[in-house]
Amino acid sequence: MRDTNFLIENNARHMWHPMAHPAEMQAVPPKVITAGEGVHVTDVEGQKTLDAVGGLWNVNLGYSCQPVKDAIRDQLAELPYYSAFRGTSTGPAIELSYELRQWFEEDGLTRSFFTSGGSDSVETALRLARQYHKIRGDRDRTKFLSLKKGYHGTHFGGASVNGNANFRRNYEPMLAGCFQIACPHIYRNPFGETDPAKLALLCAAALEDEIAFQGPDTIAAFIMEPVLGAGGVIPPHESFMPLVRDICDRNGILLIADEVITAFGRTGAWTGSRLWNVRPDLMCTAKAITNGYYPFGAVMISEKVVETFENNDDAFGNIGHGYTYSAHPVGAAAALAALAETKRLNVADNAAVRGDELLAGCKDLMSRHEGVGDVRGKGLMVCLELVADRANKTAVAKSVMADVFEKTYEAGVMVRVSGNNVILSPPLILTAENVSTIVTALDHGLSAAD
Ligand SMILES: Cc1ncc(COP(=O)(O)O)c(C=O)c1O
Repeated sequence: MRDTNFLIENNARHMWHPMAHPAEMQAVPPKVITAGEGVHVTDVEGQKTLDAVGGLWNVNLGYSCQPVKDAIRDQLAELPYYSAFRGTSTGPAIELSYELRQWFEEDGLTRSFFTSGGSDSVETALRLARQYHKIRGDRDRTKFLSLKKGYHGTHFGGASVNGNANFRRNYEPMLAGCFQIACPHIYRNPFGETDPAKLALLCAAALEDEIAFQGPDTIAAFIMEPVLGAGGVIPPHESFMPLVRDICDRNGILLIADEVITAFGRTGAWTGSRLWNVRPDLMCTAKAITNGYYPFGAVMISEKVVETFENNDDAFGNIGHGYTYSAHPVGAAAALAALAETKRLNVADNAAVRGDELLAGCKDLMSRHEGVGDVRGKGLMVCLELVADRANKTAVAKSVMADVFEKTYEAGVMVRVSGNNVILSPPLILTAENVSTIVTALDHGLSAAD
């Protein structure tokens, strides 16, 4: 690699960064991360920080997970690529599909469709949902429903079911036939409701109302994150996803759980669906499936959908969808090793315990920092929403959010700032001491918003 001066001089000059304004990246160049170890990363200036972002909700096992590194190296040496398109397969892909079937047995999911990441997984699930209805002769069922504030990646399908204008506005018009309903967000909801169980009922009623309005026989699927992540970490009341499951069943609508963040332990349960005692029809996974070391994802498919496809004997059952890198053998080998480590370290239990500590620590910060309007979370997904004044919940200036980020970074912790939210999604191998480090650094950083 070229030297440090080269990296600093050329930073953001010749590449456009995802989710950023190119001019802003040139004016305020991003941190250049050059090394990672355990739960820490080091930047090009030599500053070491605790990575409370966990890469991007994906490095659940930290940066030193040797079994995953070894699996990638060994697979590269043996067979660096072969396709899984009709007619060929590879050993790691077959083995991974077997392992995932055991992993997701409790969720009732028995088949995998492999992808290159979260957006691919969402796109795949949306397509398979439409196809499921076509196979059954329900050819009008093409629409998708979802939650406002939901995030489902950035392919046109995923962006169309997305519930945040920031990811839609510049790319409209979106896919036709996608509609969002109010999400069960206690801090900001259109009903002015603060009781979580009542709010769940109101949002479920809004869903029923929308279904009746659209016509149940026109809707293919409802997609939701069990705990909303990128939209600002919004854990619904425990009754909400079961209510949605029931409404979907009564109306012949498939339920897609977008677990790109929540699968593999982040909420403190092995899946978000399991957390709420729900069995989805399709589940999108990615991110932590390889501990972030290789771009990979899997859509998990329930028996109900499996039977419809596998018993079909005409062209409607043919899957006309897939990626060159679907079931990539190196990604599959990485996933096999990551799953084994994820299970061995029992990171779901650790996420639950450390998550409670982190949430309590962040709530405590509210008493010292007037600028923190709300703190919410589940497991190791936590959000601090900053406001200019608590009574009116008005937005803080962008520059304040940037200052909070910088000051927290100076104090030794990397956080993610998105709109008014400071989002925490650290590796699931976090220790109690790491939790204190995060809270102490935030205490310092939040002084920028006081
Ligand atoms: C719930 C959810 N779905 C889909 C995606 C898209 O995943 P990717 O960025 O890997 O395409 C994300 C990414 O954060 C996500 O959080």
